Amino acid sequence: MTMQITTTLSATPTDDTRLAEILANPGFGTHFSDHMFTVEWTPEKGWYDARITPYGPVTLDPAAAVLHYAQETFEGMKAYRHDDDSLWLFRPEANAERMKRSSHRLALPVLEVPDFLQAVEELVRVDARWVPGNPDGGEKSLYLRPFMFASEKFLGVRPAQHVTFMVIASPAGAYFKGGVKPVTLWLTEEYTRAGRGGMGAAKTGGNYASSLVAQQEAYAEGCDQVVFLDGQEGRYVEELGGMNMYFVFDDGSIVTPATGTILEGITRSSIIELAGKMGHQVTERRFGIDEWRDGVASGRITEIFACGTAAVVTPVGSLKYAGGETPAPAGQDLTMRIREALVGVQLGREEDTFGWMHRV
Ligand code: PLP
Ligand code: COI
Repeated sequence: MTMQITTTLSATPTDDTRLAEILANPGFGTHFSDHMFTVEWTPEKGWYDARITPYGPVTLDPAAAVLHYAQETFEGMKAYRHDDDSLWLFRPEANAERMKRSSHRLALPVLEVPDFLQAVEELVRVDARWVPGNPDGGEKSLYLRPFMFASEKFLGVRPAQHVTFMVIASPAGAYFKGGVKPVTLWLTEEYTRAGRGGMGAAKTGGNYASSLVAQQEAYAEGCDQVVFLDGQEGRYVEELGGMNMYFVFDDGSIVTPATGTILEGITRSSIIELAGKMGHQVTERRFGIDEWRDGVASGRITEIFACGTAAVVTPVGSLKYAGGETPAPAGQDLTMRIREALVGVQLGREEDTFGWMHRV
């Protein structure tokens, strides 16, 4: 225990019938648990007033810096209920470490790993009944959203002197409507999400704000998601709006793009280890868009998939761009095996040989 957390339980928690209804069909990001975690920071006091309170609106001054200058970071992670009713987090230390890196980039204060873990775990304990089980063999979980923002009332442009860190929780089913089926991609040639020295490697709201117009373009083109290329040469594949990418070759080798300006996913790094253990050679390197087109055309690329906490592992279908389309590669076999291996560990159906799971 590092923080003293005060807990005020909700006087009107969601009743069992309504909760069962929500957990039967949670969707993604629409329902929220009964409580939330909050802690504040100033340079003088450090982190103080850690509390769990009933879920509800946050009061912010209209001059709060986050509303103007987007000084904000966030994380995405999941709590799982195993069949014996125990509750588990997947590599939460990695989320805590990434939030430290993101917050450094956004000139936000450091929240130490044990404090981050304590906040997340305590909220999961208080709202344990919101963690869905999967007796039917499904893959539901409680999605956790830790976030930190500049709550100081001040319009000057400088790092805020009052910061708030919160955690909210939302039961989650499939991220994409219709479950696991290939997502179709739109290649935006007009917009990029990151540049050299920018915030591409940080998990911060601005990156998602800047992706939306490109995502809108993708929808207008009849595609599910947008692919971003590097900002400098417009040639190397970076990632999707909220997922990293993987390319599988006919010799069994696998490539995942690395440019220094992507959000390095915890799912991505876990797959590097999982696929390695399954006997595949995994390389992180720059990956040209021409390699994608040529690889699919020649049959050298046999599978493409995307991955992230919310979306898990999702096969990638065709790639559409101004003036053309690259069809989906034929296969999905390794994609689905990797998906099952990962979900198996997360849901306690497979042995956790990597020591990834963290019991709450
Ligand atoms: N890339 C972006 C832009 C994301 O938003 C996410 C989701 O968090 C990822 C990649 C995948 O990261 P992770 O596997 O840690 O969820
Ligand atoms: C996650 O996978 O946790 C994310 O933050 C992605 C977001 C687009 C929902």
